[in-house]
Parts: sequence; structure tokens; C-alpha cells
Amino acid sequence: MDSARLLLLIAVASLGGAAAADDHLVFSNYTCSAPGNYTSNSPYARNLARLLAPLSRPAAVDNWLFHQITVYGTTTPDDQASGLAMCFADSAPDRCRTCLATVSSAHALFPACDHSRNVSFISSDGCVIRYAAGGVTPFFVSSAADDASGARLVLRSRTQAADAAAMRDARRVLLSRLAESAAGDDDRRFAAGNQGYMDAAGRGTWQVIYGMAQCTRDLPPAECSGCLLDHLGVMYRDASVTNSTEASVMGLTCYLTYQMNKPIHIAGVALPPAAQPSETPTGSAPPPPVVKTTVLIAALAAAAVTLFSVGV
Ligand SMILES: *[C@@H]1O[C@H](CO)[C@@H](O)[C@H](O)[C@H]1NC(C)=O
Ligand SMILES: *[C@@H]1O[C@H](CO)[C@@H](O)[C@H](O)[C@H]1NC(C)=O
Ligand SMILES: *[C@@H]1O[C@H](CO)[C@@H](O)[C@H](O)[C@H]1NC(C)=O
Ligand SMILES: *[C@@H]1O[C@H](CO)[C@@H](O)[C@H](O)[C@H]1NC(C)=O
Repeated sequence: MDSARLLLLIAVASLGGAAAADDHLVFSNYTCSAPGNYTSNSPYARNLARLLAPLSRPAAVDNWLFHQITVYGTTTPDDQASGLAMCFADSAPDRCRTCLATVSSAHALFPACDHSRNVSFISSDGCVIRYAAGGVTPFFVSSAADDASGARLVLRSRTQAADAAAMRDARRVLLSRLAESAAGDDDRRFAAGNQGYMDAAGRGTWQVIYGMAQCTRDLPPAECSGCLLDHLGVMYRDASVTNSTEASVMGLTCYLTYQMNKPIHIAGVALPPAAQPSETPTGSAPPPPVVKTTVLIAALAAAAVTLFSVGV
């Protein structure tokens, strides 16, 4: 997540969500199968402990972390434990580390998941981590449908784009393009880019939307793009997001985000040049707008009270 955004959230930490150790707000969501579905001394409990040690507390964490592990043990397939962990590409590694560790105490944090065989957890600190019984291979390939019914987080700014219609058009072009390229990226199932548009309803200023798309790496291309396009659909269906200047839709199998006039910093990826107007109006060329930080912070802070949905 963007550090400026998280900083802003400190001010409203008392209003919802869970405050982390360093006082930024963390939003999370989870899904789990029936609780009380195994006992503490069972073969599944042993396999799960062996799975969670490396999955939730990996030796090294960076923003490209992706692990898939199955513990077969000496048990029947039903008692095998499989899991997956991923950091979002724009996450800060220390926050992702905290996020991954959360699942080790899932039973304490979410009583509804106490001794559930299957647990999936997602957090705005920038990770998704899940485990399930049964050595399923490949285990979580279950696509957009699964993502829609599973845990999801929708975060957005309440600030509206001045020319909402033009913003929505440009956002659709950008994010559907990224949904296709993330699916075609074999190594990381990731894509980032930007798209400009002329803001006619405003003062005729050039605006740039920066976007990022990412799927868990076990997803086949078609399921990856399907999941991302489904998240894009959320941005158009959800009235609170549809005209927002920034929003994120995070799911268990994919993550789609955009923000206006503010590049998304992703460690290991050089910032692409911002899109420029293709036709420069006669007279003075409009420079890309620089949003004054103070204005942006004020707008976001004012909006943050209700503008970040969800939180457990
Ligand atoms: C857990 O997930 C696995 C793999 O998706 C599935 O086969 C199994 O039925 C689930 N178990 C429960 C108790 O929901
Ligand atoms: C776990 O749930 C499955 C079905 O969801 C059931 O068949 C099984 O008996 C349950 N196991 C325990 C230990 O409760
Ligand atoms: C968790 O995800 C589900 C499924 O998308 C959604 O219906 C629910 O509102 C989410 N809960 C929170 C607290 O975000
Ligand atoms: C979004 O902007 C359009 C104008 O393009 C407006 O008609 C619509 O009411 C706005 N939607 C919301 C939820 O604010």
C-alpha cells in the first residue's frame, strides 16, 4: 500500500479497522470452512503446523514473495495440508511479513475459524495467505468465481474525479489492458502502467491514471484475466468506487488497483514515463498536473472517515 495513504489513516485509526503495532490502519477479510473440524493432536494438525512454519514466517520477505507448499506427511490425502502465500507487488516487505504471520494466530483472531481445516486471509498490509486440507494440485486454482465468493476487500478514496465520465473511460482502457498483460506474464502474473486523459469537465487539465494488476501465480492465464476483469466490474458496479480518484479491489486470487496523478511505486520495477497528451493545444503546452501534497492529504484525510470501507 501507498505509504502516504497509510500515514493518513493513522489519524482515523480509532474509527474502525484494526490498528497495527505502528498505528496504521489495517483492513482484513477472511473465509474459512466449518470450525472444530480437526483436533489438536490429529495428523492434520501436525501437517498444518509443518506447513504454517515456513508459509507464515518465511526466512526472507520481499514484495515478490510467492510460496506454494504441500505437506504430505505419512497420512491419507485428506489429512495433507496445502498452502499458498503471496505479497502484493506494491506492499512494503515488513508489512507483508506481519500480514503473513497473522494466519498463525487465525484461531485466536477469528474465533469462527478455530480449528477450521481451510482458511484464507487477505489484508491491506499487502498479502494473501491460505491453506486447505487435501494435497490438492494445483491447489487453489479456482478462479474468479472463487474470488467473488471468497474474502474480498474494497478500499477507495471518497474524492471524486472532476470529469468522472472521462476518468471511467480511461480507467476501463487501462485496467482491462493490464488484466490481459498480467495474465500473459508467466513469471509474476503482474502488470503495471498508466493512461492519460484530458479532463474536459475540469479546467481542461491532463490527468494520468496509474494502475497495477496481479494474480496469484498458480492461476492459468484465462482465470487470471477473468478474476481481474471481475474486479474491474466491481469498480463500475459499486457506486462508492465508480467515480473515485483511487481504489483497490483485493481478492484471494487477484488484486487490481489504480490512483490518479500519483505513480504506484513497486520495488524492482522502473517507473514508466507518464502518458503525455498526444495533441498539444496551440499556445502553452499543459504540463502534467502536480497535485499539491497538502491538498491531497487534506482531501484524503477528510475522506478517510468513511472512505475506506470494511475492516474487521
Ligand atoms: C478444503 O479445501 C479443499 C480444497 O479446495 C476441499 O477439497 C475440501 O473439501 C475443503 N474442506 C472443507 C472442510 O471445506
Ligand atoms: C470435517 O468436516 C467434514 C465435512 O465438512 C466432515 O465429513 C468431517 O467429519 C469433519 N471432521 C471433523 C473432525 O469434524
Ligand atoms: C469479505 O468478503 C466478502 C466476499 O467478497 C464480502 O461480502 C464482505 O463484505 C467482506 N467483508 C469485509 C469486512 O470486507
Ligand atoms: C459518477 O459520475 C457520473 C457523471 O459522469 C454521475 O452521473 C454519477 O451520478 C456519479 N456516480 C456517483 C455514484 O457519484
